[in-house]
Amino acid sequence: MQKKSETIYSLFPELGLLKDETLRNQVTDVLLECWQQSTWQDLKEVPIGPDYPPKYNFVNHTRSVTKNAIAIAKNLEEIHGVKVNMDYLIAIALLHDASKPLEFEKKGTECVRSRDGTLFPHSILASCMALRLGIPKEIAHSVLFHSPHQHSPPKNLEGLIVIHADLGDVDPIRVISGLKPEVRS
Ligand SMILES: [Fe+2]
Repeated sequence: MQKKSETIYSLFPELGLLKDETLRNQVTDVLLECWQQSTWQDLKEVPIGPDYPPKYNFVNHTRSVTKNAIAIAKNLEEIHGVKVNMDYLIAIALLHDASKPLEFEKKGTECVRSRDGTLFPHSILASCMALRLGIPKEIAHSVLFHSPHQHSPPKNLEGLIVIHADLGDVDPIRVISGLKPEVRS
């Protein structure tokens, strides 16, 4: 896999749903930079976490969370008349786990926490990179605050939706894989 923008576009087709071209390019650049700075050659080998079966990878998880988030937002709008900033929502969902290639690495056949993953709380690296590349602060904030390690939930609707979209993907996978669900655990 070549570490370039075109590969990111083909791995994450939901990037095409971002209407704002500048934001689309910035989100692509964050995903690409996290990958380039990591030790992973194949982004589809990055696990959701060291305890997850490898077939549930970071790329598919990110895509599933993005689709979940869009579905929740559409329901909220259709049924309750709630307006969601779809570009912000999609950007947060695509970036919420962008740090993972940096947080994990392969050791032999095993996946372990990297030095970066030990030094920094989940998602802080992607959030900092997003800010550095000019992504709006509301998005960078929600990328960081989607993590259960933070003391409070995100301060905007879009970030809150992504938290539930995230759990809606990981918890069924965890239960199917014989792991404890994150919710209420
Ligand atoms: Fe996630």
